[in-house]
Amino acid sequence: MTTDSQITIAPVRKICCIGAGYVGGPTMAMIAKQCPDIQVKVVDINEARIAQWNSDTLPIYEPGLHDVVVESRGRNLHFTAEVDEAIAEADMIFISVNTPTKDFGVGAGRAANLEFIEKCARKIAEVSSGHKIVVEKSTLPVRTAEAVKAILSRASSGATFDVLSNPEFLAEGTAVEDLLAPDRVLIGGESEQAIQALVEIYANWVPRERLLTTNLWSSELSKLTANAFLAQRVSSINSISALCEATEADVDEVAMAIGTDSRIGPKFLKSSVGFGGSCFQKDILNLVYLCEFFGLPEVAEYWEQVVKMNDYQKQRFVHRIVRTLFNTVSDKKIAIWGFAFKKDTNDTRESAAIYICRDLLREKAKLCIYDPQVNPEQIRKDLAAVLKNGDSELSQASAQLLADNVEIVSDLETASKDAHAIAVLTEWDEFATADFASIHDSMKKPAFIFDGRNVLKELPLAELGFEYHGIGFRR
Ligand code: UDX
Ligand code: UDX
Repeated sequence: MTTDSQITIAPVRKICCIGAGYVGGPTMAMIAKQCPDIQVKVVDINEARIAQWNSDTLPIYEPGLHDVVVESRGRNLHFTAEVDEAIAEADMIFISVNTPTKDFGVGAGRAANLEFIEKCARKIAEVSSGHKIVVEKSTLPVRTAEAVKAILSRASSGATFDVLSNPEFLAEGTAVEDLLAPDRVLIGGESEQAIQALVEIYANWVPRERLLTTNLWSSELSKLTANAFLAQRVSSINSISALCEATEADVDEVAMAIGTDSRIGPKFLKSSVGFGGSCFQKDILNLVYLCEFFGLPEVAEYWEQVVKMNDYQKQRFVHRIVRTLFNTVSDKKIAIWGFAFKKDTNDTRESAAIYICRDLLREKAKLCIYDPQVNPEQIRKDLAAVLKNGDSELSQASAQLLADNVEIVSDLETASKDAHAIAVLTEWDEFATADFASIHDSMKKPAFIFDGRNVLKELPLAELGFEYHGIGFRR
């Protein structure tokens, strides 16, 4: 590996990012916007995704993103499938490919699948010459950089490399805001010069006191830790929601009461049907796996409980629906409002809605699903995947269930017509402004609403005749 004394690193002029996903796309668009002198190329093995980034309909929905992309696209921001060329000419290469939980072999269900990261490192080693800085953007288990370095250092081309860890803390739905004004940017590395090269890029718009530099391993571990802490807060408040329902306390009032203690703070205390998204579960499971690997079973168990509590919260919601609907939902139409893992994104990865829908389907309910941004094909794909339950093929019974009991529609009214109940699974703003009087008229009676996000809590739904159930309180 290169050290400072061997090489002088020139300012970065060309960047390549491998992976045009929820992280790579918005992050590179922001760098291109803020650094007009730097040429940024985003590459992906998925050519259809690249074509979408070059079209008017971007592959991901994110408020404000379209304008940021259009501002630089064709100027110093390019989306291309010419992977080798883009890597070869770059001074700095970001790796922003996905690292899903392994679903096979050693560590299945917990460890991160690093296959794509390794492939990227091998590709970089193969096509590079001169000196390059490789930046891990993907969330990775601590010590992954060691493997990346080992592969790079054997590049037959004689190229030399520095490896940095620069985890992304943006949240989906607020990606543009988060990138524009991050709480902090974390850069971990071994070579001071390489760290400074990346610091100079961010310093174009982020105040220097927010640019934190650490060693490589601290940076890798901090990302997993941040997500584990955030998810833990949601699971903690969700565990209390169950107790609130049993005691006539109200979870939102409890959250407010503890959130005003400045040592605790108000954020991430919104009780819900369960957290979702591409990161929380994957990263906690990965942390659990790492703890086991390093011989720390008590620590592993401690963190695993955060995920178990989240599963419990989803199950509890389904049980409540079934119990309230007179112990059967078989053949009853249930309107599903929202499928994304939270509002303002079209992302459905690990969305609580997937598991709620699966369990309702197993109870033979008829689902009519509406989400303002999620593509219907994606919903069917997610449900098929979860109904496979680890098998390679969908069983005939599950395929039949999917075909007969799942309908996907393009508005709330159609979803709710003739339904026995509405289940609110994503907190989309438009849900609170629906015409509930006419929705009530069109539903079967008694008309139930199960609000998995407490977004309709303040509306006079009982006056309209609804029987309303939220999370963490009883009326
Ligand atoms: C990111 C991070 O990379 C992940 O580690 C983090 O924990 C969550 O966020 P994200 O951008 O959300 O992932 O993933 P995704 O939208 O799936 O994008 C990854 C892209 O990489 C895909 O478009 C995929 O086609 C591409 N890819 C994957 C490659 O170009 N090459 C590969 O070898 C593998
Ligand atoms: C998260 C982290 O916030 C981000 O820093 C990291 O880089 C990636 O993972 P994201 O997955 O986009 O971001 O969403 P986030 O806003 O954190 O929400 C995760 C899940 O928790 C969502 O399903 C959300 O609805 C749920 N949540 C969040 C709650 O149920 N209650 C809360 O109070 C907050």
